[in-house]
Amino acid sequence: MTAAPARVVVLISGGGSNLQALIDARDAGTLPADLCAVISNRADARGLARAREAGIAAEVLDHQAYPSREAYDTALRQRIEAHGAGLVVLAGFMRILSDGLVEHFRGRMLNIHPSLLPAHRGLHTHRRVLEAGESQHGCSVHFVTPALDAGPVIAQGAVAVRPGDTADALAARVQVQEHRIYPLVVRWFAEGRLELAGERVILDGRPMAAPLRLHAGEPLPA
Ligand code: GRF
Repeated sequence: MTAAPARVVVLISGGGSNLQALIDARDAGTLPADLCAVISNRADARGLARAREAGIAAEVLDHQAYPSREAYDTALRQRIEAHGAGLVVLAGFMRILSDGLVEHFRGRMLNIHPSLLPAHRGLHTHRRVLEAGESQHGCSVHFVTPALDAGPVIAQGAVAVRPGDTADALAARVQVQEHRIYPLVVRWFAEGRLELAGERVILDGRPMAAPLRLHAGEPLPA
């Protein structure tokens, strides 16, 4: 008997290009996961239409309708659980989550951040990389733990900073890498190959010595 595919709930706030990359991988047969629902805290998130077009339940849970972060996060947890999610994928979900919610989904919640963590946690990463005069930038997929953007990193996509780069140009090249590494990591999880043990990332039964670092143009691993 084949196991049922992992049920994945994706949380978004905006454009949803990472969501689209997951949908495209699913449709191409390279992501053995059931993308069962997309939840946005904003009704105007473009990603909601992407979900509907792909036949995925698309829901709005407006944070402004709740009196506190805890109240919102309780409602969010209930929504996620109503879908029987085995994995929660944060894909541009622009909210800080309470520790209780994060701990509840520990080892079952992933995020993508637009920097080579631990460098540049927080916002405006592309601008900060340019201001610091750095030569490398990229994105990181990590397990979510209570400290913001500080959970164990699984995979990174690296790009070279070019002379004359603007924050927008850099962001666009980083996003190309985001769209490669996020479906890869979600696939690993869906295949049962990836887990979090304490603060360590386990892939194929072995602790990862370091995050996978993929450079632009490099082929994806199995
Ligand atoms: C991405 O840059 C991601 O790294 C960050 O939010 C952005 C989401 O973009 N967490 P999109 O909505 O997936 O296009």
